[in-house]
Amino acid sequence: MGIAIKSAEDIEKMRIAGRLAAEVLDFIAPHVRPGVSTGELDRLCHEYMTGVQGTIPAPLGYCPPGYRPYPKSICTSVNNQVCHGIPGDKVLKRGDIVNIDITTIKDGYHGDTSRMFHVGEPSIAARRLSEITFECMWLGILEVRPGATLGDIGHAIQRHAEGHGYSVVREFCGHGIGKRFHEEPQVLHYGKPGSLAELKAGMIFTIEPMINAGRREIRELADGWTIVTKDHSLSAQWEHTVLVTESGYEVLTLSSGAPALPASLSSAARQSAAA
Ligand code: MF3
Ligand code: CO
Ligand code: CO
Repeated sequence: MGIAIKSAEDIEKMRIAGRLAAEVLDFIAPHVRPGVSTGELDRLCHEYMTGVQGTIPAPLGYCPPGYRPYPKSICTSVNNQVCHGIPGDKVLKRGDIVNIDITTIKDGYHGDTSRMFHVGEPSIAARRLSEITFECMWLGILEVRPGATLGDIGHAIQRHAEGHGYSVVREFCGHGIGKRFHEEPQVLHYGKPGSLAELKAGMIFTIEPMINAGRREIRELADGWTIVTKDHSLSAQWEHTVLVTESGYEVLTLSSGAPALPASLSSAARQSAAA
């Protein structure tokens, strides 16, 4: 099949779907507080998407081969949960960290983005893990340009994570996205520079590293979806949907509340560090 090159019309619609997904995260941010349940966060996001935005929550009923239908509209992965946490009765408490992952469908196109949230004051260890994971995502994004490879993205992420003593989850990866939620290619968050497929302008995929404070091994819970770290260590994830442009990249899942590229990773800072 190969990796799709999106048309100008596809790209315009992906910009809209992407921005809407990011705006759901902006909307939910002030609700992420001690005492709220993950089920309540799901309910609020569902109402906002369907009632205010006119978007469809892509996770609801999503059923890849070998899975049972996903029962909720968002994913909420708390502390040692790596990804695909199912919202429910779990009440967030001070010091928890939670990844909220939103995928909207608008006009047939998908936007997919996630952020980490701290509930009250995080521990120093939790804040650090979340920050380094955010930098990992951005270091991957900064590799994106025509002629670079998927291996360049994975390598940049792995190097930063492991350089800080963390581990990269291998079983889940970023993915092409468009009219379908998950398309080719798989975007691994580890790898070798120059390996795997070459990027071309018009490709759209997510970069969504899952980084563990401890060992990389994971386990699936009996609900058939929730992934946790085997050693119970904390895990963090950030996700953007990214377009390969003629000159580099365009992040499609930005919004006013999306934290910006860290100044320490700007090209000037990276060049002086390399010198
Ligand atoms: N949003 C996730 C991703 O980034 C996929 C979630 S699938 C679900 O690829 F069914 F759990 F929602
Ligand atoms: Co994704
Ligand atoms: Co996602």
